[in-house]
Amino acid sequence: MNPFLKSQKIGFLGAGNMAQAMIKGLVEGGIPSKNIYVTNRTPGKLQKLQESFGVNPVSSNNELIDICDIVILAVKPQDLLAALEPVSRAFDDNTIVISVAAGIRMEKLERYIHGARLARVMPNTPSLIGRGLIGYLLNDDDDNALDSTVEDLFTPLGRVIKVFDEDQFEALMISCSSGTGFVFEMMMYWQDWIEEHGFSPEEARLMTIETFVGASLLASQAQEGVEDLQAKVTSKKGVTAAGLQSMRELEIERALRISFEKAAMRNKEMAREIK
Ligand SMILES: NC(=O)c1ccc[n+]([C@@H]2O[C@H](COP(=O)([O-])OP(=O)(O)OC[C@H]3O[C@@H](n4cnc5c(N)ncnc54)[C@H](OP(=O)(O)O)[C@@H]3O)[C@@H](O)[C@H]2O)c1
Repeated sequence: MNPFLKSQKIGFLGAGNMAQAMIKGLVEGGIPSKNIYVTNRTPGKLQKLQESFGVNPVSSNNELIDICDIVILAVKPQDLLAALEPVSRAFDDNTIVISVAAGIRMEKLERYIHGARLARVMPNTPSLIGRGLIGYLLNDDDDNALDSTVEDLFTPLGRVIKVFDEDQFEALMISCSSGTGFVFEMMMYWQDWIEEHGFSPEEARLMTIETFVGASLLASQAQEGVEDLQAKVTSKKGVTAAGLQSMRELEIERALRISFEKAAMRNKEMAREIK
């Protein structure tokens, strides 16, 4: 962990699932818990976090912003603007503000946060076990110090990727965050089919998970791309080839692309709905 980051006071506005996963990762990664500050709408979660990690509960968002060098906005998108309104002028030019809220675009954050260096970050759910894919977008692409701060903060949750505009941010969110849900959908069909062939639910679950994990690990460790790996398991006129031909005839690719586009449309619609 970057030694500079260890000296920074890091605040979480909102102490839910995402904040808890990040706090765990940061403390395990070497950030002193005495430098972590947390607020929450209702106090129960703060007490638990204080007991588990020794972080500092703070009673108001204004006080949190006053104390911290880095403020992570970890409330639900529909609660974020209401949370920011009363504190919008409390940030100074050096404060780093990181929003993990889906659907609140950078231009809206800039309207609600005066001063401050801004980042939008999108972690997917495997971040909860340190295997996430985390995308981020800055309001100033040339802020190299902010690049490394965001990368250091989120590396405990998984692999971090910088994106350069809202379109890329949306594509990353759909393919990796919604994408996690799409992969689960396919895993359900896999598991059902295996169970229909006489395996117990536990066996079917194991066979499904290990197939997805094994294929992913192989793809991540191999020198060649996925297309070449697929060619290696597909002999001409063989069993895999017959299955793949059917997948292509049924236009699985088209179905997936349409689903991605529908998700993108819904994302835009939701962004418009958040007032
Ligand atoms: N969980 C994920 O895997 C994931 C992935 C990607 C992005 N995100 C993003 O992360 C953000 C948080 O999600 P989450 O799953 O952690 O939600 P969550 O568990 O509901 O946590 C949100 C927390 O914010 C608190 N809160 C609401 N308004 C507040 C305010 N004005 N001041 C202080 N605290 C306030 C809530 O308090 P109460 O206890 O009173 O409700 C709650 O504890 C969302 O924007 C979401 O889009 C989450």
